Formats: sequence, structure tokens, C-alpha cells
Amino acid sequence: MAEVILEVRNITKTFPGVKALDEVNFTLEKGTVHALVGENGAGKSTLMMILGGVYSQDSGDILLEGTPVRFESAYEANRNGISVVYQELSLVSTLSVAGNIFANRQPTRGFNLINWDILHKRTTGILSRFELEDISPRTPVGDLTMAKRQVVEILKAMSVNPRILIFDEPTSSLTDIETKELFQNIRILQNEGISIIYISHHLQEIFEIADTVTILRDGKHVCDADVATIDEDFLISNMVGRQIGNMYGEREPSETVGNTFFEVKNLSRDPDFEDVNFHIRQGEIVGFSGLIGAGRTELGRAVFGAEPADSGSILLDGKELVLRDTKQAIQAGIGYLTEDRKEQGLYLTFDIKSNLVSNHLKEFSSGQGFLKRKQIENFAEKQVKEFNIITPGISQLLNNLSGGNQQKVLVACWFGIGPKILIVDEPTRGVDVGAKSDIYKLLRKLASEGVGIMLISSDLPEIIGISDRVYVMREGKIAGELEKKDATEERIISLAAGVHSGEKELNT
Ligand SMILES: Nc1ncnc2c1ncn2[C@@H]1O[C@H](COP(=O)(O)OP(=O)(O)OP(=O)(O)O)[C@@H](O)[C@H]1O
Ligand SMILES: [Mg+2]
Repeated sequence: MAEVILEVRNITKTFPGVKALDEVNFTLEKGTVHALVGENGAGKSTLMMILGGVYSQDSGDILLEGTPVRFESAYEANRNGISVVYQELSLVSTLSVAGNIFANRQPTRGFNLINWDILHKRTTGILSRFELEDISPRTPVGDLTMAKRQVVEILKAMSVNPRILIFDEPTSSLTDIETKELFQNIRILQNEGISIIYISHHLQEIFEIADTVTILRDGKHVCDADVATIDEDFLISNMVGRQIGNMYGEREPSETVGNTFFEVKNLSRDPDFEDVNFHIRQGEIVGFSGLIGAGRTELGRAVFGAEPADSGSILLDGKELVLRDTKQAIQAGIGYLTEDRKEQGLYLTFDIKSNLVSNHLKEFSSGQGFLKRKQIENFAEKQVKEFNIITPGISQLLNNLSGGNQQKVLVACWFGIGPKILIVDEPTRGVDVGAKSDIYKLLRKLASEGVGIMLISSDLPEIIGISDRVYVMREGKIAGELEKKDATEERIISLAAGVHSGEKELNT
């Protein structure tokens, strides 16, 4: 029997209206990677925040190497060797990479002035330990891509030299390649004797990286298992309590794709994308694949009028759209579900109902500008039901929802505007398998009503599973276009990475 480093005994935690954890038990053995899985709202993050000193439990004990501990702050948890990479990034965008990694414990010289030389040197050391020399310690975090920010978040947690490192959905904004790099780093840490708790909704990752797994459902411990002895169906049926067949669904034979009604011609914006041409037919789901930094999000944001293009044109129903801002895009019938729900998508300090109507408030105001409260409430109740948002009520603040349920609110916000074209950027980020299959059903339903969908996703099985056609972007250009029957992982990856394979190459 391996040495136990951490034991959680009968932990219970209640929030107003929600029992987030109900007598949960959990054991972590030294030097292992232990996965924690469960549906959105199952209590995973809450348990990690208790271990990380952010929340305290109502009852139950935490034993660290056999000794009972109770942390009053994250700082105390850190000092005891527990460090958490949080699901919602905790970085300050205006601070540099170094400033973030050493937040609150910067080396100082006299008069408490920060010694930036030492700070930058140490940061460079940490970056090179994980072969990340291309990130400068001086870059403001706000200038980095989501993926790089995620990496900085991880480095911040690692920089305290923890004995136990907790990852709460670290790969939700990483591509396959970056996930591989993260796994290599986890292996390095594991070989150094560090024990790891790993949370993810990408179940195949559990099989790649974890030794053991604990399953939670509705705040309760369901079971523990050795990863080598189980399969994905075991995980899903224990997480969800039901079987899920083909998660992506199929297009009904009666639902044919209509005519091209949306066209983007020669769209360019220096330095993000160049001479991009694509079209979407009525009722068509069009996937956009590519590596992080290929320009997909930038293209989506340009189509949405958020950062207009330098040149080129956008045509909807044969008419050219001149979009100076997002309001005009929404009026024209274009919606954009952002990949960055925390910064751009949602008002986290507002409640569910306010968020749900925020994109089309006009519909809910009288001539005098008064809000029609009853109508808002009815609409919100309906959306919460339809999108299966788990919450005690529509007045719950977004901040108090689990990550996956925040994502469902974001999806509901945009479906609610009744779009003609909906751009969805990483729509199932952080969403559990059950809710994923719900979101795919909703996307298919929207498409069956004639809406054109531009699906930007780093999740290859998702792109392949749900798209009618796929564009692959590379370095700001469309590198190729694949019909559904040709859209295989190998072909998409080779186009994304620029490896020649005799594909129909565009723009080259
Ligand atoms: N600060 C809070 N106030 C009120 N309720 C909360 C708070 N934090 C979490 N909850 C609720 O506790 C439950 C467990 O949430 P938690 O974030 O731990 O779930 P999770 O398993 O991490 O889910 P996800 O996979 O979506 O991240 C949810 O119902 C959530 O809404
Ligand atoms: Mg969570």
C-alpha cells in the first residue's frame, strides 16, 4: 500500500440553497495523479477550494500526512504545500507575467520596493524549466492568448514548490498539442514525488494521465476506481446516472442544408488574418479548426463587428453588412458566443435573469424605458428549464454557479436573441458530458430552423462530430476546406500544422 499524503473525511459544505458537498471522502496517495470527475455542479471545485484554503468546510476533517489541518487562507494552504490551479483564471491582466507569478510575494529591496531584476530572473528560470522561453516575463498577461494565460496560471501555482498540486480543468482552453505539453510537465512533477489532483471534463484525458479516480455526483461520493480497470462508459454512467449514446447526434434526413446566405469575401485585418473567404448555408453547421493563434477567434470577432476588418466584405442575404460595432451585428442577426466568458461574455456579479436578457434588453422594456419585470422572469424561467441550468433560482448571482452552469447561461443568452448567424467560440468549454450532448442538440435544433452556425472549436471530436463542413485555419489564412466525409483528425491536423498531404489547398 502506497503512502497516503492527503485524506478527506466526511466533508460537508452548504451554500444558501445548495448542499455542495455531502459527507465526501477522498484519499490521495503520494506521487500519484488522482482524477476527480463529476457533472457540472457536482462539487469538485468546492472541494478543491476547501483544500486550497478559500472556503472552510461545515464539518469533516482534512488530514495532511496523518495530521488534521484547517486552512484559514490560500496563503496558509500554500505554506503547507498545497497549491491550486483554479478553473476560473485568477490572473490580473494589467500585470506582467512575472508580476502574476509572484503576486503577493515579490522579492523586495529596502523600503519594500519590488526588486524587478530578481523577479524577472526567477520568472525566466521557471519559464525555461518548462521550456517556455517564448514567453517574456515582462509581457502584460492581458496581451497573451487564453492558452498562454492558462500556462501562466499553472506556473503561478507551481512556483511555490507544492507537495500537492491541484488542477481544476486546466485544459479547457488548451489545444491537443498544449495539453500534451501540460501532461509532460505533470509527469516531470510526478517523478519529483509531487502528488496531483486532476479535474477535467475531457474524459479521455483521465485515461491518459491519471492513476486513480474519484467520482462525485450531486455533492456525494459515488465511487473510487483504478483507472486501469475501468472504461469511459463506466465513468459516464457513474457521473450522470444514465447512458449517453452518440453525444453529437445526427442530422435528420429530412433536414437538408439550404442555400448560401452568408458570405465573407477577402476579409483581412493585419496581423490577425488575411484574405479570408468562406460561406455558410442556411441550416449549416460549419466548423473552424486550427491551432491556437491561427486567427479563428479574431476572424469571428471581426464578423461580429467587435474589431472590424481592414478590408473585404461580409454579405448576409445578399446584402453587404457594414458593421461598426457589435450592436449593429446583433441587430443584423449575428450572435457571438465568446470563448472568454469571464472577461467578455457574462456579468458575473449580476444574477441569471439579468444576464439572460442582457443581449436584447429592448424587447423587455416599455416605451418609457421601464423594464417589464414579469416578462423577464418568465423568459428566464423558461431558459433555465430549456438549458438545464442547475441553480436554486433565476435570482442567483452568476458568480455562485459552477463553471459549467455559467457556460450554459452564456449559451442561453445567445440562443435567446433569435440569430440568423450564430458564431460559437468553444461552446462546450468546461461543460460536462451530459450538458455537452444537450448543447449539441440545441445547436442542431437551431440549424434545423435555418440558422447558420460558425463553430470555432479546439475540440477535434466535436468539430468532426457536429460540423457539416470544416474550414481549417493556419496563420491567419484558410488553409483548407473539408466536406463532412473527408473531415478526419489526420486531415485536419495536417492542414492546421501545414503538413502537405495533397489536400485541396486554398490561398496558397
Ligand atoms: N459561492 C457559492 N455560493 C452559492 N453556491 C455555490 C457557490 N459556489 C458553488 N456553489 C454551488 O455549489 C455547487 C457545486 O459547485 P462546484 O463549483 O463545486 O461544482 P463543480 O463540480 O466544480 O462543477 P463544474 O464542473 O461546472 O465546474 C453548485 O450547485 C454551485 O452552484
Ligand atoms: Mg468546477
